[in-house]
Amino acid sequence: MMKKLAALLLCASVAYSETVKGIDVSGYQPNVNWNTVKANGIKFVYIKATEGTGYKNPSFNSQYTGATNVGLIRGSYHFARPDVSSGAVQANYFVSNGGGWSGDGITLPGVVDLEYNPYGTNKCYGLSAAGMVNWIRDFSNTYKTKTGRPPVIYTSTSWWQLCTGNYGGFGSENPLWIARYASTPGTLPAGWAFYSFWQYTDNASPNPGDGDYWNGSLANLQKFARGG
Ligand SMILES: *[C@@H]1O[C@H](CO)[C@@H](O)[C@H](O)[C@H]1NC(C)=O
Repeated sequence: MMKKLAALLLCASVAYSETVKGIDVSGYQPNVNWNTVKANGIKFVYIKATEGTGYKNPSFNSQYTGATNVGLIRGSYHFARPDVSSGAVQANYFVSNGGGWSGDGITLPGVVDLEYNPYGTNKCYGLSAAGMVNWIRDFSNTYKTKTGRPPVIYTSTSWWQLCTGNYGGFGSENPLWIARYASTPGTLPAGWAFYSFWQYTDNASPNPGDGDYWNGSLANLQKFARGG
C-alpha cells in the first residue's frame, strides 16, 4: 500500500516537473543572463515591448535577441493604456515596435496586458465596461488584421469582472493568460473554459521577472507558436 502510494506520488511529481515553465520580463530586468535562464529549464519568455503609445521598453531588443540566441520560444506584450488612445492605435504601435508575429515556430502571438491602472485612482482607466470591451475588441481586431493572429489576453479575473463586467465574448478567439499568484489559477474570467498561460508568481527567482506556466506540453507550445 505504502509502496503503491509512493509510486503514485513519484509519478505525479515527475509529471509536474515536466510542466513547461516560462518567465516574463520588462524594462525592470535590463540585464538577463539568458544562458542561466535556459539552463534553469525555462522554455519560453514574454518580453514587454510597448505601453500606451509613448513608451518602448529600452531593453526590448537586447532581451529579445538574447532569448532568441539561447533557443527560447519568445514573444512580446503590450501594456494597455485605454485612457490615452484607441485600441487600434495601440495595436499598430505595438506591431511596429516588436509586437509582430510569424509562424516560424519560435514566436508567440503578441499579448495585450490588461490590469489595474497603476497611474491613477480609476482602476478601469475611466472607461465603462462597454467602453472597455470596445477598446479590447478594437485592439484585437487590429492586431489580427496586421499579424494574422488574435492577440493573447493577459488579465486577472478580478480586473476582468470589474472593468469589462465579466464579458464572455473573447474566449472563443483570444487565448487567455491568467494572472493569479496562488497555488491554483482559480476561477477564470467569463468566456474561457481553460487558460493557455498562467502567471503564478511575480517573483520567478532564481530567474528574473515573473513566473509563468504553459498549459500543455512543449510540443503543444511549439504548435501554438506556429499557429497550428
Ligand atoms: C489546458 O488546456 C486544455 C486544452 O488544450 C484544456 O482542455 C484544459 O482544461 C486546460 N487546463 C486548464 C487547467 O486550464
